[in-house]
Formats: sequence, C-alpha cells, structure tokens
Amino acid sequence: MTTSRRDIIKAGALGAAALSSGVLGLSAPALANTGSRSLEILVLGGTGFIGPHMVREALRRGHSVTLFNRGRTNNTLFPDLETIKGDRDNGLDGLQGRQWDVVIDNSGYVPRHVRDSAKLLAPKVSHYLFVSTVSVYASFTSDIEEDSPLATIADETVEQVTNETYGALKALCEQAVTEEMGAERTTVLRPTYICGPGDRTDRFTWWPVRTARGGEMLWPGQPDDHIQIIDVRDFGNFTVDCVENRTAGTFNTATPERGYTMGELLADCQAVTATEVDDLWVDEAFALDASRNSPARNHGAFPVWHPQRGPDAMPAQVISAAARSAGMHNRPVRETARDLLTWWATLPNERTSKLQAGLPADYEAELIARWKERQG
Ligand SMILES: NC(=O)c1ccc[n+]([C@@H]2O[C@H](COP(=O)([O-])OP(=O)(O)OC[C@H]3O[C@@H](n4cnc5c(N)ncnc54)[C@H](OP(=O)(O)O)[C@@H]3O)[C@@H](O)[C@H]2O)c1
Repeated sequence: MTTSRRDIIKAGALGAAALSSGVLGLSAPALANTGSRSLEILVLGGTGFIGPHMVREALRRGHSVTLFNRGRTNNTLFPDLETIKGDRDNGLDGLQGRQWDVVIDNSGYVPRHVRDSAKLLAPKVSHYLFVSTVSVYASFTSDIEEDSPLATIADETVEQVTNETYGALKALCEQAVTEEMGAERTTVLRPTYICGPGDRTDRFTWWPVRTARGGEMLWPGQPDDHIQIIDVRDFGNFTVDCVENRTAGTFNTATPERGYTMGELLADCQAVTATEVDDLWVDEAFALDASRNSPARNHGAFPVWHPQRGPDAMPAQVISAAARSAGMHNRPVRETARDLLTWWATLPNERTSKLQAGLPADYEAELIARWKERQG
C-alpha cells in the first residue's frame, strides 16, 4: 500500500526579507516584541474548528482580533468582532489599507492564495503564523523531525486539493510564506490530528463515543500501538504564544512521541464513559481490510490509528520536542476525551446520529462475527 498518513489526515529556510521598518514600511510599534502588550491580530479564517479556539484564547489574553473569511462558515459565532469579508482566491481587497501586529493563517491550502496574502500582508504585519500539517512529510516509515524530507508534487501549479495533493501543496504554501515574509518573521506549525470539542471529523471522537455504547468493540492492532494527537486547545494556546513571542521557526505539534498507546486510549475511554467494553483486538491485516471495505465513506474506520507492523506499517512518530521547548503544553489525552463527551452531549441528535468516522453499526456487527469465527 502506498497510502501515506497524508491521505488519512486530510492536511526551507528561504531568502529572508530584510527586517527593517524602512524596507518593509512597518511602524515601530508593530515591529516591537510586545511581550504582554495587547496585539492587533488578523486571523485568516477563524470560524471553523481550530479558529474559534485560537480567537477565544487571544481575546482572553486581552488581544484584539479581526477575522477575514467569506462569511459562509458559522458566521454568527463572533458578532462582536470585525469580520472583513473576502475570498482568498483573488478577493483580498478588504485587507488593503490596514495594519495589524500579526496574522494567523488557518485557511491556506493553495500556494497561490497563500503567496498573495503573504505578499500583501508583509508590509502590514510584523509576523505571519501559518497553520500547516504533518501531511507535508514525504514518508511515515521512520520518525519525523522538522527537517525530514517533504512531499513534492510534479506540477506545482495544481490547485485542486485532494488527499493526494494536500500535503505537497501545504509544503509549497509554507515556502510561499517564508519567501514573502522572511524566515525571521514566519512561524509554521505542523499539527497531527487536531482533536477536541468542535471537531467536525469525529476521528478521535469516535473512540469515546463508541465506547459509551458498550458491548463488544473492535480495536485495531495491539494495545501497545502508539498514537499521537494534539488537543485543539493546546494547539490554540501555542499558536497565541507564538504570535505573542514572535517565535519564528517550524514546529511539529503533537503529543510526545511514543507517549500514548491504543491500550491507554481504551482505558481512558472506559474511564470517561464509566463503561466497560468487551475489547476485541484484531490484527493489522484484518483492520486494514475492514477499513478498505467499509461502506462508510468517512474519515476512517479506525481513525487516528496506523498499522505499526506488517507490509503496510506506518510506525513513524512525530517528534515535537521543539514545540514543547518553545512553550507548547500537552494536556492528558483523558482530558481531551472527557471534554469531547461533554461537548458531544450538547449536540442535536441529527448531528450525533451521523458520526463522520468509525464503523457503521451493521458493518461493525458483521466484522465482529467474522473475527470471532476466525478465532474459532
Ligand atoms: N483538523 C485537523 O486535524 C488538522 C490537522 C492538520 C492541519 N490542519 C489545518 O487546520 C486548518 C483548518 O482548520 P479549521 O478549518 O478548523 O480553521 P478555521 O480557521 O477554524 O476555519 C476555516 C476558516 O477559513 C475560512 N475560509 C475557508 N476558505 C476560505 C477562502 N477561500 N477565503 C476566505 N476564507 C476562507 C472559513 O470561513 P468561510 O467558509 O466563511 O470563508 C473559516 O473561517 C487548515 O490549515 C488545515 O490544513 C487541520
């Protein structure tokens, strides 16, 4: 199988521009390292999943936030904030004639769009934080540091974002920001699966929500298989830290490598749901076959897990020590699972009845019967 983690996640230091107010036309206050000073923050996006967490954290810390988006997604979420309406595809006019301290770019997928915004904003902000993804990496067979090889794409003008192009295009987006802003004024964050309240993909959500139903439950691989996530609040907090401190550089953002297993996930899910399941651990081949043949075209039959043995193994762990040294904090995964359930309980039935990841009930029952038959 040639599948890379990029397919599932669906997510160089270049010429540095001179950092001087003369060259860039920046005002002195905009360039100063502000420490605890209140910042004017522009967020490109802000109303999906990760954006609201960042926005709330920035406001909590006393910063001012302006949103830029098309006004299509959750457009009543922040009635008290200024929203500049526009499309990243040739619709940046609303950003003209304005100035901010920093920009957080959550919504960049197409290199041309990202270059356009970075070029336009380079004289208007002192720092640009680009939300990228671990899908930028070329391979998931061995551990990944920030300087591991990146995915490439034969035709760099492609603008269609698919499972196949997503990672390489995000890598080109990173490059565009760094070229336009200069490495000293750029932060690139590369998150793994972002999880927690508000997640629309239900990837991590599947596990506690399914556990709460009890009964026999399929678990892929072995209890000591490692998984990594990043809690959306930890990611949001670190994002705000980085713009406050103008922390330039590229950072993987994930829970610590080899720090959490599927067995621990089972224990945490049982603890937060106060439910014991009858856990059936199926081997990698069975789990992968079950995923490939799942009738649900969703975010994965066994989301967040990757095979760690066998021909399809993707055992790589993402090393995110640099982010922790720069201040990123990872809360216990149990807390993420607990808070997800609290959020899930507030959602209407029509949403919770349509899990976007995991196994449809009929198919799960069929797989359980097949697995037990195989075990004799
Ligand atoms: N979820 C994960 O597990 C994960 C993992 C790795 C990386 N990421 C990265 O996280 C980011 C996405 O997070 P999110 O969706 O939660 O971010 P968000 O900032 O909460 O939501 C996306 C925002 O972008 C706006 N937007 C989308 N297309 C636009 C366009 N053409 N022009 C202007 N605004 C546009 C949307 O509003 P309108 O629709 O109203 O325009 C919305 O406000 C991406 O960069 C993705 O690569 C996510």
